[in-house]
Amino acid sequence: MITTNNLTKKFGDFVAVDNLSISVKEGEILCLLGANGAGKSTTINMLLNFIKPTSGTAEINGMDVVKNPLKTKEFVTYIPENLMLYPSLTAIENLDYFSGIAGKKLSSKTLTDFLREAGLQETAFKKRISTFSKGMRQKVGIALALAKDTKVLLLDEPTSGLDPKASNEFGELLQNLKNKGVAVLMATHDLFRAKEVATHIGIMKDGQLRQQFVASDISLPELEKAYLDTMNYKEVLP
Ligand SMILES: Nc1ncnc2c1ncn2[C@@H]1O[C@H](COP(=O)(O)OP(=O)(O)OP(=O)(O)O)[C@@H](O)[C@H]1O
Ligand SMILES: [Mg+2]
Repeated sequence: MITTNNLTKKFGDFVAVDNLSISVKEGEILCLLGANGAGKSTTINMLLNFIKPTSGTAEINGMDVVKNPLKTKEFVTYIPENLMLYPSLTAIENLDYFSGIAGKKLSSKTLTDFLREAGLQETAFKKRISTFSKGMRQKVGIALALAKDTKVLLLDEPTSGLDPKASNEFGELLQNLKNKGVAVLMATHDLFRAKEVATHIGIMKDGQLRQQFVASDISLPELEKAYLDTMNYKEVLP
C-alpha cells in the first residue's frame, strides 16, 4: 500500500510537489497523468527515498520511507522508463542477481518460471540483455516484481516508446500483479493505457493533484477532456 500525506518537495523557491495526498491500496492501480514538470517523477523518487521530502510524508505499507529506508525498499519494485539491467548478463542471470539483492535465493527453474509468467519468450531467457528490445527489458522488470513477491510497484512512464502490442502486453501483466494484490502507482502520458489499466486516475498540475477519478466512472473521451481542461485552466486572480 502506498500513501503520501501532504507530501511537498521544494527545489529552492520552486515547489515541485505541493501538498500531495494520495493512497493506493492493495489491488489498485493509480495512474498519474500530468504535463512535463507536473511533479510525477519527483513524487515517485520520494516514495523510493531517492530524494527527501521538504515536508509531509511518503509511506509504503504504513511505514515512513525516510525513517525505514531499507525495510520499505523490500516491498517495492521500481520500473523506470529505461530499466537498468546488466547488458552483458542474460535475462536469467539478471533476474538471479537482482532477486538475490532482494534476499531471494531462487532455483533456475523458479527464475525461468517467473520470466515465463512475465511473458518473455523462451528463446530470450539465455540471451544477453544488450540484445533486448525495451519491451523485453520491461518484462524482466515484471519478472523481478514477481520474484520479489513485491507489494508495491512504482512505474515511471514504463510504456513510453513501446509499440502498441508491447504496451498492451505490459497492461495485461499489470492486471496480473493487481490480481495478486500489488499496489501500483504509474506515471504516464498515455491516456489510453491509463484508462485501460487503472482502477484510479489522477491528474497533476504544478505539483498538485487537481483531479481524481475512479477509472470505470469515466470514458476515454471524458478523460481526455478532463485532462485538457485541467491543463488549460488558468486561475483567475481577484
Ligand atoms: N533536482 C532538481 N532540482 C531542481 N529542480 C528539479 C529537480 N528535479 C525536478 N525538478 C523540477 O521539478 C519539476 C517537476 O519535475 P518532475 O520530473 O517530477 O516532473 P514530471 O511530472 O515527472 O515530468 P515529465 O512528464 O517530464 O517526466 C520540474 O519543473 C523540474 O524541473
Ligand atoms: Mg517524469
